[in-house]
Amino acid sequence: MKTIGVLTSGGDAPGMNAAIRAVVRTGIYNNFRVMGIRQGYSGLINGDIFEMNLSSVADIIHRGGTMLRSARSDEFKTEKGFKKALNVLDVFSIDGLIVLGGDGTLKGARELSNAGVPTIGIPCTIDNDCGYTDFTIGFFTAVETVVDAISKIRDTSTSHGRANVIEVMGRDCGDIALYAGLAGGAESIIIPEVEFNIDEVCKRALQGKNRGKLHHIIVLAEGVGNAYDVAQTIQDKTGIDTRVTVLGYIQRGGNPTSYDRIIASKMGNRAVELLKEGKAGRTVGIKSNKIIDLDINEALEIKKEFDIEMYNTSKILSI
Ligand code: F6P
Repeated sequence: MKTIGVLTSGGDAPGMNAAIRAVVRTGIYNNFRVMGIRQGYSGLINGDIFEMNLSSVADIIHRGGTMLRSARSDEFKTEKGFKKALNVLDVFSIDGLIVLGGDGTLKGARELSNAGVPTIGIPCTIDNDCGYTDFTIGFFTAVETVVDAISKIRDTSTSHGRANVIEVMGRDCGDIALYAGLAGGAESIIIPEVEFNIDEVCKRALQGKNRGKLHHIIVLAEGVGNAYDVAQTIQDKTGIDTRVTVLGYIQRGGNPTSYDRIIASKMGNRAVELLKEGKAGRTVGIKSNKIIDLDINEALEIKKEFDIEMYNTSKILSI
């Protein structure tokens, strides 16, 4: 193997740049030619490809977003688009590919790998919804952003004696809400993994109020329902003035935390080593604080386990 390509696809995640840096620098260290592919699978299909050197990745380890830019490509999912992508890899003599992204992106990596392209996946998404790895790159940075928002909203919630519903991202996964809710001391955490009981949320709000609590923070994962409807119901049932904050894309940006930079650096480095060792069709991850790699077909079949203990702990601590 002489030339490897690297791309970022799907929703961006803080730490992608640190991973790109690790791929490029480890690649060049091992005498590979490293090609950057812009805008994910879209750029692959269109041949938006350039050679990278050590300086291409200078000054990016601390930056959010992705210097390679990103896209969600419907064309890549078509037979025609997929064939175009294979052809472009051939034209640019790319004989190994490293793909950074979430579930959809890794599924694309699996297709390429099954079509004979030596491909390695690196899990990057704020949602932390990949079952085979404890954490995905970007997750903890998003959690920090949400915790910071909770603290600020709690100040005003206390001043006014209100309840505040804070909607966070996560698609069908409640991890951002769960981790940020626990770290932020939220009174209620509403996530897709646990059946939603509005009466329980209201009861907790009233119990808190009767004890003299002046704030009530409800963290709601986007996969559960509409934050404005939830807030209206709480207000109607409890009489507590209730406001909504939808945090949205603020969660996708910002400087990655040191943890995200570290796992991004380790995973990027490992991905290149795997290609060097002639191993392909794999995806890297982290389990019990160790960098792992496993067959990409098997990895994508592993269901995400929900941490019910953590959820129960959060309930006890926020009485
Ligand atoms: O990156 C993951 C995620 O942020 C989800 O939580 C969210 O539902 C989705 O991406 C929205 O992203 P986009 O608008 O870019 O498709």
